[in-house]
Amino acid sequence: MAPGPSAEPGENVLVAESWMIDELAYAGPEHLDAAFVAGFDRKQGYPDPSDDLDALAALGLDDNATVVDLGTGTGQFALAAARRFGRVTAVDVSPAMLALLRERAAAAGLGNLDCLRAGFLSYRHVGPPADAVYTRHALHQLPDFWKVLALDRIARMLRPGGVLRLRDLIYDFRPAETEEVFRNWFGHAAADPAEGYTSEDYAEHIRTEHSTFRWLLEPMLAAVGFETVAVEFRDRLYGAYTCVKR
Ligand SMILES: C[S@@+](CC[C@H](N)C(=O)[O-])C[C@H]1O[C@@H](n2cnc3c(N)ncnc32)[C@H](O)[C@@H]1O
Repeated sequence: MAPGPSAEPGENVLVAESWMIDELAYAGPEHLDAAFVAGFDRKQGYPDPSDDLDALAALGLDDNATVVDLGTGTGQFALAAARRFGRVTAVDVSPAMLALLRERAAAAGLGNLDCLRAGFLSYRHVGPPADAVYTRHALHQLPDFWKVLALDRIARMLRPGGVLRLRDLIYDFRPAETEEVFRNWFGHAAADPAEGYTSEDYAEHIRTEHSTFRWLLEPMLAAVGFETVAVEFRDRLYGAYTCVKR
């Protein structure tokens, strides 16, 4: 990430190398727009983080655990995680997302939730390695080469045996099935953009963001030292991975 417009280098934010991309330029312009952010939870349908919290607890995370949420958005996971685990660091490149989350964290009196402006490629984890990293619907903002570097950075911030819980839009089909799967996806889109993602939102996601095939993502996870211990897919599009750092 180029320093300046994206995040100021500091204890938790790396100084950008000349060859690094500006993560803010890949963040999705809507995520930087305060009006979009204000309606974000409603558009998302207020996803329930219970399954994610339970998946982490099942692997031994308790009220001593440290968790990093990368691409936290409005903090739907981070706020719930801070009530259950010991310390949560919520990281996002978007000032608008973080502003809303900071208000919520303060209103909830959650002193164990740190909010930090940085990205997958620029967040520097200091202190003891984390017990878990969570990321939902954010890794696809990065092209595949950068996804691998982001996953490598995640692996390095975890302790051995630490957990990555990754949710994202990931394509679980062969190339020849693309039209069929997308036609079905668009057929179930929301009509009202305030109430959910429309078919035009989905089309824009495909055109401008970097969701990748499952059979490309899984070798990336293995290459940086993760063992996948559970995978679930919905509609051949929405993947939830639980991975352990070896
Ligand atoms: C679709 S939202 C998902 C937010 C949240 N994780 C959720 O599930 O509700 C994607 C989020 O990723 C953030 N983001 C985009 N690129 C990022 C990057 N390179 N590093 C960290 N966060 C990023 C955006 O600002 C946005 O808040």
